[in-house]
Amino acid sequence: MRKHIVVFTGAGISAESGIKTFRDSGGLWEEHRIEDVATPEAWQRNQALVLDFYNQRRKQLLDCQPNAAHFAIAKLEATYKVTVITQNVDDLHERAGSTKIIHLHGELRKARSTANPRLIYDIDGWELKQGDTCELGSQLRPHIVWFGELVPMMDTATYITEQADIFIIIGSSLEVYPAASLINHAPHNSTKYLVDPNAKALPYIENLTIKKGKAAHEVPALVEKLLIA
Ligand code: OAD
Repeated sequence: MRKHIVVFTGAGISAESGIKTFRDSGGLWEEHRIEDVATPEAWQRNQALVLDFYNQRRKQLLDCQPNAAHFAIAKLEATYKVTVITQNVDDLHERAGSTKIIHLHGELRKARSTANPRLIYDIDGWELKQGDTCELGSQLRPHIVWFGELVPMMDTATYITEQADIFIIIGSSLEVYPAASLINHAPHNSTKYLVDPNAKALPYIENLTIKKGKAAHEVPALVEKLLIA
């Protein structure tokens, strides 16, 4: 049976594609307050501001391309069963060719009904406006998991992580829960890697190799190694 690699990605993997991370210096949460743009309360208070924040992100995403790290992960599928669990709302893993992707925090290029969360639509272009409605006539919101909301894909992501032979974390500060807790669900004997230029030590995690470098350089090298292993 093919070994199962679970790749857990954060904003750092898309940094070299030109998408800002959240918590690095110059990151998005320095320019915007989370409570103004990324909570259900913000949406109640000022829909236009929230829509504009995500419209700007979406507009920028349309000009960005996957980088060598996204492509390398897609290449792993030649030899391994691969599941990508991403905190990112961009679609760069999809565009690089990965086929099994779980978006824990939603998807920037999709909109969701405020009346029925199961009604999810692709957004054509970059703009979601006040007055854009679902088929039930309710305002559409960004298909994003905001702070204070449940993470609907968390149980699935946890189950998949428990099946990992190899667990690779790329470009995440591991500060946002519950996503950051996934590493604790990887089997003790699984091989683990953490790729991040600012990686902190995780002393309580067994079989962990830390690669302190940028994703577009480190990930292709790691993938080459895994493909010949
Ligand atoms: P953060 O901004 O918290 O962390 C980004 C990580 O990427 C940091 O550890 C950086 O060191 C690392 N990094 C920067 N450049 C890199 C590069 N070129 N290659 C590899 N790593 C690099 O982003 P996340 O951990 O993804 O949620 O943040 C988690 C969640 O917090 C996001 O999904 C988002 C945010 O608020 C929501 O909006 C719900």
